This record gives sequence, structure tokens and C-alpha cells, in this order.
Amino acid sequence: MAYIALYRKFRPSTFDDVKGQDAVVTTLRNQIRTGRVGHAYCFNGTRGTGKTSVAKILAKALNCEHPVDGNPCNECAMCRAINEGNSMNVIELDAASNNGVANIREIVDEVRYYPTEGKFKVYIIDEVHMLSTGAFNALLKTLEEPPSYVVFILATTEVHAIPITILSRCQRYDFKRIRIETITERLLELCGKEEIATEEKAMRYVAKLADGSMRDALSLLERCVACYFGQELTYDRILEVLGSVDVEVFARALRYMHEGKVPKLLSLLDEMTVAGRELSRFVVDLTWYLRNLLLAQSGEDLSEALEVSTEQMKLLAHEAKVYTQEELMRYITVLCDLTNRLRFESQKRILIEMSMVRLCHPETDVNTDAVLERIRRLERELQLVKRTGVAAPVAESEEDTKSKEPIRIAMPEQLVEVVNNWDSIVRSIRYPLRMAVEICTPSVAPNGNLLLVFSDNTDYTLVQSADHIEQIEQAVEKAIKSKVTVETRLVEEGGNQEPVVDIRDVIANRLGNVLVEITS
Ligand SMILES: Nc1ncnc2c1ncn2[C@@H]1O[C@H](COP(=O)(O)OP(=O)(O)OP(=O)(O)O)[C@@H](O)[C@H]1O
Ligand SMILES: [Mg+2]
Ligand SMILES: [Zn+2]
Repeated sequence: MAYIALYRKFRPSTFDDVKGQDAVVTTLRNQIRTGRVGHAYCFNGTRGTGKTSVAKILAKALNCEHPVDGNPCNECAMCRAINEGNSMNVIELDAASNNGVANIREIVDEVRYYPTEGKFKVYIIDEVHMLSTGAFNALLKTLEEPPSYVVFILATTEVHAIPITILSRCQRYDFKRIRIETITERLLELCGKEEIATEEKAMRYVAKLADGSMRDALSLLERCVACYFGQELTYDRILEVLGSVDVEVFARALRYMHEGKVPKLLSLLDEMTVAGRELSRFVVDLTWYLRNLLLAQSGEDLSEALEVSTEQMKLLAHEAKVYTQEELMRYITVLCDLTNRLRFESQKRILIEMSMVRLCHPETDVNTDAVLERIRRLERELQLVKRTGVAAPVAESEEDTKSKEPIRIAMPEQLVEVVNNWDSIVRSIRYPLRMAVEICTPSVAPNGNLLLVFSDNTDYTLVQSADHIEQIEQAVEKAIKSKVTVETRLVEEGGNQEPVVDIRDVIANRLGNVLVEITS
């Protein structure tokens, strides 16, 4: 039999199988039971929370020959046909790829015909926010007064992008992010069914990473199963497969922040990128670590509540003494804010680095938390001066600068201009080329040319092809009014090439150990 991904294999087939959406499910079931079904629904909510699944269950329940207490029976001909995707009564349209007026006209025309079998024709329009304005208008009239045998279900992750004229004609249901406990329970249940040995702590970790999405949870689980097929999925194995970072690293990162050691913190981030860790995941995990520290400050043994081993609890309790409650809260606030912004940001790394710098230097922050932290630092220094008569060492200790030979870089003046205009240069390049340029690292070649470094072969190949390099050169020339030759290089992760210097870091003076000589 062909292999089916876990999240497809376990698509809920009745309302009872849908986890964590009780309000939605109860209302819909009652509607079916009492025969008071609406003609248009809008299902809104984050990815992977059950919108498409519930739409299909509703379609089945409407057409089922012997519904059981509002649930489809999954046995009659209609239910089976819908489950197998063969029913003429369930029409799915992916608005992401069919967003034009013509696509909607087709539906509007078809709506007029009675279903040839069953009772209801159900139109599921997925990603409906992608429809063009014209398409929305074409849909409006039919949506308001469809024939009695037609039900529309519009699904979206971005309800605010749907015109109010459309929304006001639908019953709206909001799908919630699914709670960690609920996801954990479901994962354990499915592991039982698949005969996968695992432990609760491990599944809880997967659930936490899934951030409210059941589909993501199942995909993550799948990755772990693939790696350790036939073996027990222990907590440690899960950490390993999902590229998660050891607690010790968080402790280190936090110390650097606390002591204002920007270069060390940035090189720690760099280390992790090189090791294949995903930085946005690191930010989320670091936030949890901080939360654990905060709880550990209570001094009780909370290893159960925090889901950590007794050993880790000791480490936490030890670290927790270093920071004040206010400090931890400030870190958490900044990191939560960062996590939110990362969702919509293409330059993730830069944003993360900026926030890290902000955390290291409360003086760049003007809110009360940051100001309090500055006062605390001053108090610490003052005490030290009182005690010893000498001022505290500046953040960058001597040992830091001595340990490495400084890197010398000769950088043409033009490249400074390139860095200053980098964002607008990137924005002036057209897709799909822009996507590749967006995530490359601008650097400088030994001969002074602009060197774009890619870590992904697909991006690299794309840039090599056609006249793409020329396009980039033109974009640069247009922005800085001077010609720059562009070179490209592929530096794959794990390779042992020389480290790449990001010239944005050079200009922002974020690298401790670099001597820059600007040449004209
Ligand atoms: N509430 C839930 N209960 C049980 N399983 C779920 C739930 N939500 C999602 N899943 C699992 O995730 C898979 C995908 O869910 P579904 O397609 O319904 O999500 P969606 O909300 O439509 O996501 P998207 O916004 O990405 O289209 C399902 O096949 C199922 O395995
Ligand atoms: Mg969907
Ligand atoms: Zn049935």
C-alpha cells in the first residue's frame, strides 16, 4: 500500500474525532440534528486546526443516509464517496491558485443544477482570502441567496482580508489554536494506534513546538518516526531529531545577554545556524527556558510541573538565582514580541540579532523595564567600586579580544553604500529572484567585488541562471548610482570553508573582532 503521511491518515472522520474545537463542533452538530443548517459558513483560524476536516465532516453529515446523533455514519454510499474524494456533491476550490472571476463564475453557473445524488451540494472554498476583488463580487449574490440544496463553506487563515460584504452573509466560526495538553493526548493516542513506543514528556515537547497546530504536530512526529523507525521515541531522541538545543546553551545565551556580551551572543547564534538549528525555534525555546527560570525562582521542586529532569531542575534553580524577576520578565516580553514579528518577517536573522542586541543593551530601550535594568546594572557596578575601589570591566573583557587574531577586511566605499541601501535594492528585484536575494548574505570578495553567499543550492542555482546576476547588478547600480560587480558563492552548511563576513554586520559594527579598511 502506498505510504500516507500521518496527518492525512488521521484526518478526523466524525465530529467526535475533532480535538480542541468543542464550541464549533457542538454548534454544527446541533444544527445537523435539528435540521437548521445555514447556507454559508466562514471557518477562520490558524493553519492545521481542523477547518478543512470539519468542512468535509459537515458535508458528509449533510448528505449521510443514516446520520448518528449529528455525526456522519462513514458507511453509507454517500459518506464513502466523500471520504474517497469521489463525490460530485463536495466541490473544493483552492482559492490560492484559482482566484479569478472566471473560477467563481464557473461555480455560480453550476450551483443552479440539483445534486444528482444525495441532498446537498457543498462548496468548500479554501484560502478564500486570496480571491480577487472581482471574484468576491461575482460570489456575492449567490452567497446571499443560494438554492436550498447548496451550502458554502469558506475557509481562511486571514479573516480580516475578507470583504465585510462577504463575511456578513456567512455564519462565522473561529477555530482556536489547540492546547498543548490536547495535542499531547492526541499524539499519545495515535502512537498507541501505530504501535510506536514513546513517553509523555517526548510528545509534550512535540506538542509545544507545534504551536497550536495539530497538523504541524503530526508532521513533526512523522519526522521523528522516520528517523527512529521501530525504536522508542524518547525525549532525548526527539530533541535530537527536531534540532532542539540543550538547556546548557540557553543558560549560556542568557549569561551573555545579562553581561552585555554582544559579540559572544551573536557568535553563539552563528554557531547554531551552522549546526543546522533554526533560529526562530531557538527564540521560542529560549522563551520557555526563561519562563521555567521564573517559576524556578519560587524555590520549590517544580520538576514535574516544568517537565524537566531533576538534574535540569537543579541547574535551573542555580541559574534562577542570577537574575531578578523583573529582568526575566523583560527578556520574556522582548522575546514574545520578537516571536510575533518573526511570523511576518523575511529577514528573520537580522530581526533576531537586533532583538538580541536590544536585550544586551537595555540603554537602547526606553520602556520602564529597560530603564530599571539599567539602574540595576549601575547599582551592581557601584557596589563593586565600593568594595574593591576599581570600576567593573567593560562588557568586552580583555581575554575576548586577545583570544583571536582580528580579521582584516578591505572594503570598497561602494559596498558601504550597498549596505546602506540593501533593503531597497532587495525590494527592487522581482520575484522569484528576490526571494533568493532576500536570504543571501552580502559579503565582500577578496578583489573588492560584492559577494553574495548562499547556503541553499536551489537559491544559488536560480541566481546563476539566465541574466539574474545582471539583474542584481542593475538593481545595485540604480540604487547607489555606481557600478558594482556581483559574484556569488555557495557555502553549504557543515562545509569547512572560511567563515563568511556579513557586511551588514561590519557596517553596523556588530562584530567585535574585525578591522575594516574602507578603500575608495
Ligand atoms: N482539531 C483537530 N483534531 C484532530 N486532528 C486535527 C485537528 N486539526 C487538524 N488535525 C489534523 O491535521 C490535519 C490537517 O487539518 P485540516 O486540513 O483540517 O487543517 P486546516 O485548518 O484546514 O489547515 P489549513 O489552514 O492549513 O488549511 C488533519 O488531517 C488532521 O490529521
Ligand atoms: Mg485547510
Ligand atoms: Zn453516512
